[in-house]
Amino acid sequence: MLSKKIQELLNRQVELEAASSQYYLAMASWAQVKGYNGVSKFLYKHSDEERMHMLKLVHFINERGGHGLVPALKAPTANFKNIQEIFEMILKHEVHVSTEINKLVERCLAEKDYTTHNFLQWYVSEQIEEESLARNILDKLNLIGNDKGGMYLFDRDLESYSGAE
Ligand code: FEO
Repeated sequence: MLSKKIQELLNRQVELEAASSQYYLAMASWAQVKGYNGVSKFLYKHSDEERMHMLKLVHFINERGGHGLVPALKAPTANFKNIQEIFEMILKHEVHVSTEINKLVERCLAEKDYTTHNFLQWYVSEQIEEESLARNILDKLNLIGNDKGGMYLFDRDLESYSGAE
């Protein structure tokens, strides 16, 4: 059985994962409109994955005797400066998500809720991967700079990129 506080924090995480999904969906749509097919495909996939992260939490809360709540969300930004800005925003966002997951983990340890602690380990590993993926992509973008040919290849590469979870 979940404590009231852990349930509340898990539901806050549901909201953050849902917001992440919407955020990446807005980025995907912008990239598609701008003709970056590879980047948009990558971001649509990323958005779907965030929804999966949210669902996983909802199921867990319900299976532990709580109630997973569907949050109201603010509309995300629809316009972006460029691809570089998008991946900088993603990295910043994922670092924030990691911080929130860590807070949840700390709370579980304080309350000796080892079941939720165990469940959250999947998110801990996932965050390491997501942050490192965003950093790798940003490194590539920094190398490319303003090179249009490089950006063309980058977009094509991202289309077949399957490393994102
Ligand atoms: Fe579900 Fe990207 O954190």
